[in-house]
Amino acid sequence: MGLALADDLLGRSLQRVQREVDAAFDAMLPVPEDSRAKLVEAMRYAAIGGGKRVRPFLVITVAEMYGSSRSAAVQAGCAIEAIHAYSLIHDDLPCMDDDQMRHGKPTVHLAFGEAIAVLAGDCLHALAFDLLTSPEVGSDPFVRSELCGALARASGHNGMAGGQVMDIMAGEEDFDLRAVTRLQQLKTGALLMAAVEMGAILAKVPEEARAHLRAFARDIGLAFQIADDLLDHEGDEAKAGKALRKDAEQGKATFVSLMGADKAREQARFLSEQAVGHLASHGKEADLLRALARFIVEREG
Ligand code: IPE
Ligand code: IPE
Ligand code: MG
Ligand code: MG
Ligand code: MG
Repeated sequence: MGLALADDLLGRSLQRVQREVDAAFDAMLPVPEDSRAKLVEAMRYAAIGGGKRVRPFLVITVAEMYGSSRSAAVQAGCAIEAIHAYSLIHDDLPCMDDDQMRHGKPTVHLAFGEAIAVLAGDCLHALAFDLLTSPEVGSDPFVRSELCGALARASGHNGMAGGQVMDIMAGEEDFDLRAVTRLQQLKTGALLMAAVEMGAILAKVPEEARAHLRAFARDIGLAFQIADDLLDHEGDEAKAGKALRKDAEQGKATFVSLMGADKAREQARFLSEQAVGHLASHGKEADLLRALARFIVEREG
């Protein structure tokens, strides 16, 4: 899904991550034979077989770039994807964006009911931290606790959930470019930054060597949400797998509503090239990250 514009190497790498993440969720979420069956079915419905898997891709790519094991990074990648999947279930609820389609199929609350959707989100949130405390992410408890801290901070009121509240307010209050930038950095940028950070934590990249990775992640985080807003404005629903033209209808302040589609696209491309610039000290080993930065702003889904 949404990979039509990815170059060969990136397309293959994203597909590999998609297979690995699907297989891992499939194995870790057996459906119990009691009254929790529907809950776990809903978790599987949200977590398996959909999505570009950009966040696990970032964890895995950064970790491998610095020589860390792939299997540990897949486990940590599933943790951040579990948070992302939960955030989408809740984002689609009637009390939030009230959406009917996600990943080309009915949203979780339409397929399973609202109560199960809320609880499936809660359980994916819990699952994320369970995954990070397991020995599969490494034998070093310090690494595991750093991973938990990075993901927790990026998910809560100083990260994704805080950004979601600002997003709701952006339909009701006047938001200028500065406020929208902050909103987007939190609701989308925080998890993308956490993904890069988690790759660096797994590979024990020294603190002082992480500045350029953080700068890269900040730029792609913002570019990613501007691209999502552009998709909402002018994308193709079948390719995106979700209902579009919702932001304007709900009166949401976005880069597109504030500066127009052309300037927003220019800004997203500028940020993507700036992100690539932050990798100048790397050679070919960072080519996948460069390709991802470019894909993010040209994607159709
Ligand atoms: C959609 O994220 C929601 C935003 C944070 C913009 P993605 O575009 O990464 O969603 P999937 O998982 O690939 O569908
Ligand atoms: C959602 O942003 C960001 C999340 C934290 C889930 P959007 O509301 O723009 O995402 P889509 O367009 O529904 O995927
Ligand atoms: Mg939303
Ligand atoms: Mg939404
Ligand atoms: Mg959107």
